[in-house]
Amino acid sequence: MSEYRTMREYIEEFPQHITGGLQVGADYTFKHKPTAVKNILLAGLGGSGIGAEIVTNYIDKKISVPVLTCKDYFLPGFVDQDTLVIACSYSGNTEETLYIFEEASKRNAQLVCITSGGKLGIAAAQKDVDLLQIPGAMPPRACVGYSFVQILFVLKHYGIIGDEFVNELHAAVALLEQTHEAIKAEARDIVARIDNRMPVIYVDQHIASVATRWRQQFNENSKILGWERVIPEMNHNELVGWRDQNEQLAVLFLHSGDEYERIIKRFQINKSIIEQHTSVVIDVYAKGNTYFEKVLYLILLGDWSSWYLSEHRHVDAVEVKVIDYLKKSLCE
Ligand code: PA5
Repeated sequence: MSEYRTMREYIEEFPQHITGGLQVGADYTFKHKPTAVKNILLAGLGGSGIGAEIVTNYIDKKISVPVLTCKDYFLPGFVDQDTLVIACSYSGNTEETLYIFEEASKRNAQLVCITSGGKLGIAAAQKDVDLLQIPGAMPPRACVGYSFVQILFVLKHYGIIGDEFVNELHAAVALLEQTHEAIKAEARDIVARIDNRMPVIYVDQHIASVATRWRQQFNENSKILGWERVIPEMNHNELVGWRDQNEQLAVLFLHSGDEYERIIKRFQINKSIIEQHTSVVIDVYAKGNTYFEKVLYLILLGDWSSWYLSEHRHVDAVEVKVIDYLKKSLCE
């Protein structure tokens, strides 16, 4: 028996998770006063790393300090006492994130943790580090609605962003609730078109996190390989690979509606080229007005698509036995 409920239930609850995440953040009282930071590092992997990417896409054009994500054992050389390091691990037991925590602590960085507990929770308590605790007993990727919101509260505490995200997220939740049944219907249509093909996802650089989430959810929930690329970079390499007819691939273009005019033109030209090599090319459009409305709409649509694809492929969307095996083998 799995310790978890079904992935369908977790996806259904995604809007409520965001509301719950807003409550966790609002209720948390930081122990440490913020200091002025010169740069930001957001550390975390897989389901605990995607929140950092969603937030980076939200802030990187707005804020005046550089922000970098880290999915590795090693800290970048610039990290020092003037760096804000946010370590996010749902289980609290991901070794790469634990290494980052220890190393950032040695460099006297401004450290904050986001976790449901585990070794990271213990280490944060021992070192008196601020810790925003999210609910346990979920698959990490199903808790993203809680985890990415905490990063925003940390950034607000450090004066890097204001609190406008709170209203933006409430409005996004309202949109998701209003459109939820339509999102599910659209996801079923997308999966009917993908059928047994491998998904290839193209997106504007400015919402790269959304395409990464779609690919990760197809990987982990639907148990299928696939890849994502951003435009414009893929126009300078991958496009050349579209040479032969390939009916094993289903191509998805994700549109936020906020793309720069030159990117819109690139999407059109890319589509006309790729359509010559595969018959399944799907345009997916966001709904909403703000960044969070659009991005969270697309993320929920991708999550449902991964669920329906898991049903179509008769696989258990929750289990990630091979990741568990890998983590266990690393401990031997
Ligand atoms: O979805 C998953 O189970 C993984 O992608 C995990 O998030 C990843 O292995 C990292 O683990 P954790 O989120 O506990 O740090």
